[in-house]
Amino acid sequence: MSDQSVSRNPATSPLLLSARGLVKSYGRNRAVDGVDLDIPERAFTTFLGPSGCGKTTILRMIGGFETPDAGSLILDGRSLVGVPPERRPVNTVFQNYALFPHLTVFENVAFSLTLRRGAQDPAPRVKRALEAVHMGEFGARYPHQLSGGQQQRVAVARAIIAEPHLLLLDEPLSALDRKMRGHLQIELKDLQRRLGIAFVYVTHDQEEAFALSDVVVVMNKGKIAQKADPVTLYARPADSFVADFIGSATLVEGEVLACTPGNATIATPLGTITAPAIEGLQTGGRAALVLRPEHLQLDGCSGMILTAQVEHVVFKGDRYMIEAGIAGVTLRLMSNRPPEPGTLISIGFDPVASFITRIAT
Ligand SMILES: Nc1ncnc2c1ncn2[C@@H]1O[C@H](COP(=O)(O)OP(=O)(O)OP(=O)(O)O)[C@@H](O)[C@H]1O
Ligand SMILES: [Mg+2]
Repeated sequence: MSDQSVSRNPATSPLLLSARGLVKSYGRNRAVDGVDLDIPERAFTTFLGPSGCGKTTILRMIGGFETPDAGSLILDGRSLVGVPPERRPVNTVFQNYALFPHLTVFENVAFSLTLRRGAQDPAPRVKRALEAVHMGEFGARYPHQLSGGQQQRVAVARAIIAEPHLLLLDEPLSALDRKMRGHLQIELKDLQRRLGIAFVYVTHDQEEAFALSDVVVVMNKGKIAQKADPVTLYARPADSFVADFIGSATLVEGEVLACTPGNATIATPLGTITAPAIEGLQTGGRAALVLRPEHLQLDGCSGMILTAQVEHVVFKGDRYMIEAGIAGVTLRLMSNRPPEPGTLISIGFDPVASFITRIAT
């Protein structure tokens, strides 16, 4: 099963793929605008960002389906420039399963092996690949006889059978329902650990990115906004775009009154607040305070006390999500009990738990 002794710390693993200054334009649109990347061996790296930010374009350049206008791509120490897709030690799983409808599951998985000259009997390898994705019993079926999740497992088996050094996955689970996605996320993560190969994954689903990844690369308009492990991204977002895109957050803008190492003080509509801060803020400049629901306590009595008016209450199954307004700012917090809309509530806020970051350009 998963081998915990293998180092997957991206800081210590050797580099597998390295890109510098990658650019790809379509007409006047810079889909990818100067991206640098270092992908370690064995790591699970995920590109996360809104629709159209360039995730698929990056994957297609790594896979060889798209030629960069500028920049370098080095895999295993060799340049990928001019190397066609089938000669790269890379395989891709696309969003739409793309299985051959007239071939059985077994034949679909065996297909890439039988293309190679002098290939040996593929049966044992096909069997191993299908077993790795828990589809060992399904070899004789045709794609239309499988559920979406099963088809996607077969697509993964087909992609790993040639033992690529790098597996690219472009939103492979997005067509599946939430529960199936959750199952397959766990399976994919487990598979990646067992195979010990690097996965580069694309999603616009933040929960999925967090569940799977060692490193998450957040993209915004063709550029990398931040590259970090999930915990750092959540607690120390590099700018307001990342803070807003990752998790639930209220961003409160204000003027920076003072900076000390690790902290800043800003004047906001909620009052003057000193909190941990990103490096490099300028006194007199603007910054954003990141308030997450867990920083705020209904009826809290420690830290700052904010009095806000309840705007909406939404039942979330385990708790209630409350939106409450104060000084033109809508705060979001969770509670076990639902306050009445329109009433005033007091909210405890401990600034030490929050974070002050840059305003994204
Ligand atoms: N073949 C193409 N021709 C012209 N424009 C393209 C082409 N492929 C992508 N684009 C444009 O490049 C930008 C980036 O597209 P890309 O597919 O990389 O986005 P994405 O981040 O994968 O988005 P999504 O989450 O919707 O899949 C978009 O503005 C898109 O319209
Ligand atoms: Mg895409």
